[in-house]
Amino acid sequence: MNKKPISRRKLIAYAWIGAAAIVIAELIGGTLAFLWPRRKGPKVETVFIAGKVTDFKVGEIIPFRKERTFILRTEEGFLAISSICTHLNCIVNWNEMLKKFECPCHGAKFNRNGEVLEGPPPRPLDLYKLQIVAGNVVVDRVSSIERSKFEPSQLVKS
Ligand code: FES
Repeated sequence: MNKKPISRRKLIAYAWIGAAAIVIAELIGGTLAFLWPRRKGPKVETVFIAGKVTDFKVGEIIPFRKERTFILRTEEGFLAISSICTHLNCIVNWNEMLKKFECPCHGAKFNRNGEVLEGPPPRPLDLYKLQIVAGNVVVDRVSSIERSKFEPSQLVKS
């Protein structure tokens, strides 16, 4: 058999094609990860006791990271706010300095009641059902409650 040796020019061309293919695959993967961020996380209980009513100070927002929930206490009552962004499901953080929820994925900001201040989310952060049972704050995450705006009637009195 007479094998024709590969020319240096062809070898360099193949190397460039290979490098270009890797760059293109990285770009596609990065774009898909940006558009559809991961939502999966540890499995958590759907109903949890956040604490006693007296554990929460008026004006405070307490994160429950594993449960993907924030508890807000105001003079008028409690809210259980989902930390899942209503744009593409990234997890928002509470910025205590700015008094805003911030989404790291596409820059959305929400006020302390979960209403959209800026960015692409189509609606406020969802709520979870919250009840006061024997002096405990109990949150039910079985299903989230979508809303178009914050209303004082959403607050659960203690
Ligand atoms: S996921 Fe896009 S702004 Fe939050």
